[in-house]
Amino acid sequence: MARQISVALARPGMCLARPIYDEKGRVLLRSGVILTEYHVKRLREQFAVLTIEDKVSQGISIPEVIVGEFRVEMQRTLEEEWTRLRTQASFKRVSFSPTFAKKVRTQMRNLLQVMQHTEIIQENMASLAGFDNGTYVHSVNVAIYSLILGVSLGLSETMLIELALGAIFHDMGKMLIPITVLNKRGPLTPEEYRTMKEHAELGYSLLKQQHEFSFLVARCAHEHHERLNASGYPRGLHGDQIHQFAKIIAIADVYDAMVMHRPYRDGMSPGDVMEYLFSRAGVEFDFQMVEMFGKRVVPYPIGTEVQLSNGCTGIVASIHELIPARPVVRIIENSDQQRVTPYEVDLSKQLNITVLRCQSVSLLKEIE
Ligand SMILES: [Fe+2]
Repeated sequence: MARQISVALARPGMCLARPIYDEKGRVLLRSGVILTEYHVKRLREQFAVLTIEDKVSQGISIPEVIVGEFRVEMQRTLEEEWTRLRTQASFKRVSFSPTFAKKVRTQMRNLLQVMQHTEIIQENMASLAGFDNGTYVHSVNVAIYSLILGVSLGLSETMLIELALGAIFHDMGKMLIPITVLNKRGPLTPEEYRTMKEHAELGYSLLKQQHEFSFLVARCAHEHHERLNASGYPRGLHGDQIHQFAKIIAIADVYDAMVMHRPYRDGMSPGDVMEYLFSRAGVEFDFQMVEMFGKRVVPYPIGTEVQLSNGCTGIVASIHELIPARPVVRIIENSDQQRVTPYEVDLSKQLNITVLRCQSVSLLKEIE
């Protein structure tokens, strides 16, 4: 009973399908809450996308990759430690609290267990981010996408835990970037962008001091912006100079970052980002990894709006695991943009119809 809409379409009286959390992981609004004028105003300051329940989306359920409480617990753990470290006087030598290191390792072990039993990711996880908790949501998402790829590649359990740690800490260096740049509500200036790019080097030097974690974890932070064709940073490494884990994290990172909404621009649709990754496969990104990623992460997540080649518009209602690019679509508007009584089209059977375009969030309003 849910779909994702742009917060611009949120109206008083709408029903939230998922709880909303602030950057400290506190529940701001519970699921089932009916939005008031005040909620709508506040939500527009913090979020780009909402998951709502309405008539149009009745019966559609968006499967969560991990349960909300576990996600929030991981985000909160990162947030608390980053905030603590940020306030330390000298950044030259910082050390994680022993409880933090233990906690994160346990969380990554638990996350791996979930991912070992996950065939396919059907939800758009980037839409869970608000403007101020984006870095934490993104870190968790990158760990999830990296693990699904790592599991597909047949990595051992020990290696998968290392990969998960490298992924969750890949942007750790951002902790040392001024908050004004990190959470800026507009595009970065060239100078600010240069500052932001320092996070790879900063994360590396910070992580290699932490003896609870292997050097490999630090290497992931250092190399996740490197690209196969040496077009990346900070060192312009190429091909096999880049560690396999950093190649995995690079795909997970780019995918989630491009889909994510920013206060000054909408995120791209998952399908378009997938196209982008394929266009750079073998050039910037490992070809086999992109191919595998495309099989495990759906291009048209459940609850998102798609336009079909026959001109109709609808919402993705369910997905066939083996052919994720041909979902079941609930048609809401016909080719003349007229509302119709919703009906479903199964693209795995209707092979003459394809998805032409997908929206990063639904632009369809509630049927009155
Ligand atoms: Fe990064």
